[in-house]
Amino acid sequence: MIENQNTNLFIASDGIDPRQVPQRTLYTGAKIPAIGLGTFGSDRFTGQVIAEAVKDAIAVGYRHIDCAAVYGNEHLIGQSFRQVIQHGIKREELWITSKLWNDKHGEKDVIPACEKSLRDLQLDYLDLYLIHWPFPNYHAPGVDVNSRDPYATPYVHEAYMRTWRQMEKLVDLGLVRHIGTSNMTQSKLKLLLRDAEIKPACNEMELHPHFQQSEFFKFVLDNGIIPIGYCPIGSPKRPDRDKTETDTVVVEDPVIVKIAKRINVHPAVVCVKWAVQRGQVPIPFSIHRKNYLSNLQSAVSDPLTDEEMQAIAAIDKNCRLIKGQVFLWQGAKDWTDLWDVDGQIVS
Ligand SMILES: NC(=O)c1ccc[n+]([C@@H]2O[C@H](COP(=O)([O-])OP(=O)(O)OC[C@H]3O[C@@H](n4cnc5c(N)ncnc54)[C@H](OP(=O)(O)O)[C@@H]3O)[C@@H](O)[C@H]2O)c1
Repeated sequence: MIENQNTNLFIASDGIDPRQVPQRTLYTGAKIPAIGLGTFGSDRFTGQVIAEAVKDAIAVGYRHIDCAAVYGNEHLIGQSFRQVIQHGIKREELWITSKLWNDKHGEKDVIPACEKSLRDLQLDYLDLYLIHWPFPNYHAPGVDVNSRDPYATPYVHEAYMRTWRQMEKLVDLGLVRHIGTSNMTQSKLKLLLRDAEIKPACNEMELHPHFQQSEFFKFVLDNGIIPIGYCPIGSPKRPDRDKTETDTVVVEDPVIVKIAKRINVHPAVVCVKWAVQRGQVPIPFSIHRKNYLSNLQSAVSDPLTDEEMQAIAAIDKNCRLIKGQVFLWQGAKDWTDLWDVDGQIVS
């Protein structure tokens, strides 16, 4: 590692200067790096391996890490944060997100759940705390898509608002700087915007070239919310339980492959680059240095051409990969009930 003279940061000699990485400005005026590193290993990697990748990703220039209690690795990632901070990275240079899991929506559970994430991550505050799913629910990690929580219910706005009030308290207590949503729909977010005292700063949503959610994406931006895009590469190695026969493979799309050949990168990198250029904040996952480094490089290299951006806009297949089947309640039709496809909240 070499020391960066100007900011006393430590960066790897082949890394990217974090000051070159674009940022997005939130409605509070705070800035979030325009790309982050995901930390959900899709059951393929140990928490230790992911925590090592987080440490090295920070060394190569990442400053934004997307965590969640349910990923089961925050206590190990916390050790990485402590070490990089000991090595001279300032806490305020990092953007760290965590998420409230579905079995902690109860009014008495929200603050302790956040405090546990803070302890595990060895932090005094989070930059962003999200409600991971808008459904209070419990299922054991790794269960089959046909598994159901017998107590699962559809979305109940009053219940969500009770949870949101506790999220707002976390801001008042100084434990989190921003609060936000994840796996929402436009209909649900509209209600939240109507009733929130503290507005969501970010909405984490599935976004990749085969699932562009253009209308919802625009709604989010128009309301001053930053869209964070998960599965930006179409999560090619997600668990088999999350795959169905109709799912498409974005990294095999001829439009993506052609652009990848032109700029001499893996098709995954084109997806990440498109995401940054379109204006969402992608959080690609990899523990492989070559991959997470090239994803970060894509945020600072020459932009895709207008023709390429238009070509990618035209390959949307409305193909949602993370369908959330395990959150279904008794009597629900199928996973589309979770996503209010005709604009009505299904109850
Ligand atoms: N809010 C939510 O509900 C939610 C849901 C899902 C995910 N997330 C977050 O989003 C993150 C990303 O989602 P994801 O991990 O499912 O999907 P993803 O980032 O779309 O895909 C990850 C896969 O892409 C491959 N990859 C990454 N960079 C590559 C490169 N440059 N070249 C070739 N292959 C590359 C990796 O393969 P290798 O392993 O071989 O490197 C990895 O397995 C998660 O880690 C998590 O933090 C949030």
